[in-house]
Amino acid sequence: MFKKTPGTKDILPDEVSSWQVIEETTRNIFSLYNYKEIRPPIIEEAALFNRSLGESAEIVQKQMFLIKKDKDVYALRPEGTASIVRAYLENNLDKTAGLTKVYYIGPMFRVERPQKGRLRQFHHLGCEVIGSQEPYLDVEVISLADNLLKAYTIEGCEIKINSLGCAKDKKELTEILRKNLKPKLSKLCDDCNTRFKHNVLRILDCKNEGCIEVVKELDIQQDHLCPECKGHFDKVKEGLDSLNIDYKISPYLVRGLDYYTRTVFEIIHNDLGAQNALGAGGRYDNLVGDLGGPSLGAIGFAFGMERLLLVASREYRVESKKLVYIITLGNQAKKEGLKLLNTLRRQGITSDTDYEDKSLKGALRKANDLSSRLVLIIGEDELKKSVVMLKDMVSGEQKEIKQDDIIAELKNKL
Ligand code: HAM
Repeated sequence: MFKKTPGTKDILPDEVSSWQVIEETTRNIFSLYNYKEIRPPIIEEAALFNRSLGESAEIVQKQMFLIKKDKDVYALRPEGTASIVRAYLENNLDKTAGLTKVYYIGPMFRVERPQKGRLRQFHHLGCEVIGSQEPYLDVEVISLADNLLKAYTIEGCEIKINSLGCAKDKKELTEILRKNLKPKLSKLCDDCNTRFKHNVLRILDCKNEGCIEVVKELDIQQDHLCPECKGHFDKVKEGLDSLNIDYKISPYLVRGLDYYTRTVFEIIHNDLGAQNALGAGGRYDNLVGDLGGPSLGAIGFAFGMERLLLVASREYRVESKKLVYIITLGNQAKKEGLKLLNTLRRQGITSDTDYEDKSLKGALRKANDLSSRLVLIIGEDELKKSVVMLKDMVSGEQKEIKQDDIIAELKNKL
């Protein structure tokens, strides 16, 4: 028998209702903030991610699902930001739309070693705002993430923020780190020795214990920030304070993607264990320009949906529709049942029937299992009299209803 591929998940009908509640809550909150949904494709030219995330980013180095077709190389999207900036530019939204606020919900793909909270196909709920460098926009985006968590009733999260500064500041930070880490290279893991050459910032969030010790001894502050970037970060903090949003400044938060500049943030939850990030985001003020567009500020974030569901304190349930179940006895009744089912559904009444040729007892048990409150039974007697038998599964009461009165009676009872 075939098995699902490692790191993927079947979301079965019983689980889907939790997903639907989270999705609906997400849509409602984004809509409150005046964000519109966007749905870019799942497959993109691989070079888009190499360019946006950076050649030395872990995702680009080893985590992309690549599809080669003739001379072209495509990737199943590992994240949404690059696709959305591509879509924004390709569809000329920079010329027509002004400040653009979009959100997305959908699957992402990364070649990872699967473990709790780490999948190869996972889902993002995220947003991107393109067209402003205003620090209070950072405040809006972080408070939006905070409000989403409140709406999902997820508690016990911590928001960590940092500022990487502009491209020049990031270079300065890289130099500071190189100088400080050079004498300690022998204490760093092999991966960090490679990072030292290509992406020294990533050493700051290495999970290896030896590296954590080395990093702890570094005294990283916000000294690398130029006056403009420092001013921007001060305004972000001031805005968050004015909204009473709890956050912690974390000078070691760097994020693994090259496109980030200035504000970066991460939301963690300790119940998640090693993979403790529920969501993350930040500014990427140079990406629109790097992908061939004008120089425009931009910011966004994404939550991992599977991780949200792992820490959710309650099970989310969609209230199920009240089901009317039709039971027919004999071939002629079956034909009548088919027509009646069609009529009920056209009238907006959720209904179903038994396609398994069960006995009356078996079909009633099935109706009960489906939590159906009202059952319509059609047998030979009912056919002769042009009626159906209506059984209330809660009270057990049974009565004949004229065929012409069925809809009104059901609407009255449901
Ligand atoms: P990211 O930190 O790579 O950021 O992913 C965001 C979230 O997706 C993570 O915090 C985590 O909850 C979830 N996630 C990531 N990888 C996996 C995985 N393998 N399995 C399960 N969940 C996972 C981004 O992707 C950026 N595009 C976010 C962003 C939007 N920045 C600006 N705009």
